[in-house]
Amino acid sequence: MGFKKTALITGITGQDGSILADFLLQKNYKIIGIKRRSSSFNTERINHLYNSKILNKSYFPFYGDLTDTTNLIRIIQQTKPHEIYNLAAQSHVRTSFETPEYTANADALGTLRLLEAIRILKLEKKIKFYQASTSEIFGNTKIPQNERTPFAPTSPYAISKLFSYWTVINYRKAYNIFAVNGILFNHEGERRGATFVTRKITRAVANYFYGNKQILYLGNLNARRDWGYANDYVKTMWLMLQQKKPSDYVISTGVSKSVKDFVNEAYNCIGVKIIWKGKGLGEVGIDQKTKKILIKIDKYYFRPTEVHELRGDSSKARKELKWKPKTSFKMLVKSMVEKDIQKLGNSI
Ligand code: NAP
Ligand code: GDD
Repeated sequence: MGFKKTALITGITGQDGSILADFLLQKNYKIIGIKRRSSSFNTERINHLYNSKILNKSYFPFYGDLTDTTNLIRIIQQTKPHEIYNLAAQSHVRTSFETPEYTANADALGTLRLLEAIRILKLEKKIKFYQASTSEIFGNTKIPQNERTPFAPTSPYAISKLFSYWTVINYRKAYNIFAVNGILFNHEGERRGATFVTRKITRAVANYFYGNKQILYLGNLNARRDWGYANDYVKTMWLMLQQKKPSDYVISTGVSKSVKDFVNEAYNCIGVKIIWKGKGLGEVGIDQKTKKILIKIDKYYFRPTEVHELRGDSSKARKELKWKPKTSFKMLVKSMVEKDIQKLGNSI
């Protein structure tokens, strides 16, 4: 089978890794996926790659970990990819406050290890490198944020990602490696991890749809995020590596919504109007029709330091990559709710 190129994806079992793999397979890439050993199945999002006829033809899984240098060097040496997409990370901001050292090891040093592996193997001219950077590196800065906005990271996760951001730029300048940062704002979808707020909400809505009266506990309802659709965003990772010169790009929709907006929109998809009563930790979301309390606040979900609003200005990507998001906030929420209703329906 004549492959166009070989791509190595770290974090292939995650939301973006799995969607990117699907995207690159369509483009006739050979895919090398790095996945962690886990005591329970962690391949739900990529099972179709194993199950399909293409196994052993275009998808090649390897066990690996961003905290294991020798293993990364060995996989790169053995597979000699044209492109590396470094998507693996401890990606949960709140969790990073509880596991700061591990987060730094995987999210900061992990990137350094991969770039060093490229140098050690003398593949600087052969491999293009994509780093999954994040809007979290902006922290609480002026809105909208773009490539010229100063950084003010406010969590161990964001600080680790900022280390990676600068490492990529340093290796690009010092060693001439084609390495880029995709500064992606929040992107969600049907494969989003269940502990991120959007998926947590759409799963709760699906449960309510089937009559489950369990209360949804949330943290800060007033935080605002620029929520895009993951399927629209992975294409930009590939586009960045196809440019003549390496450069860093903000990827965003340019619209920010609050967590409360997301809740309202998600319940609206099943014809439920939420009314809000009370303040602070006592605030509750009520089904207007049945008067049942559906949402409560749990202070556990607040972060020691919070990013209040992220909203991106992706003019550079729109101009140079000729990219723009296709999916509106409304379409995104609807698609996630419908998928969770379908999934839950299949399981009961
Ligand atoms: P995700 O669903 O949490 O996936 C993270 C992936 O990294 C999983 O495959 C996970 O493996 C793997 N991983 C974690 N620690 C690892 C380690 N030490 N060694 C090897 N693999 C490890 O995240 P995502 O939403 O797809 O995001 C992809 C990347 O983009 C992440 O780097 C994230 O920080 C960044 N990002 C995401 C967004 C967003 O809104 N989604 C925005 C900006 C940047 P398991 O499946 O075994 O856990
Ligand atoms: N997770 C979670 N759970 N967040 C909640 C909850 C809750 O119960 N209640 C309110 N929130 C608020 C958080 O405080 C935050 O302000 C917002 O909802 C979004 O939280 P997450 O969905 O966990 O995402 P995130 O913005 O912290 O981080 C995501 O986006 C980043 C890009 O900006 C992750 O995907 C990161 O990996 C990514 O870099």
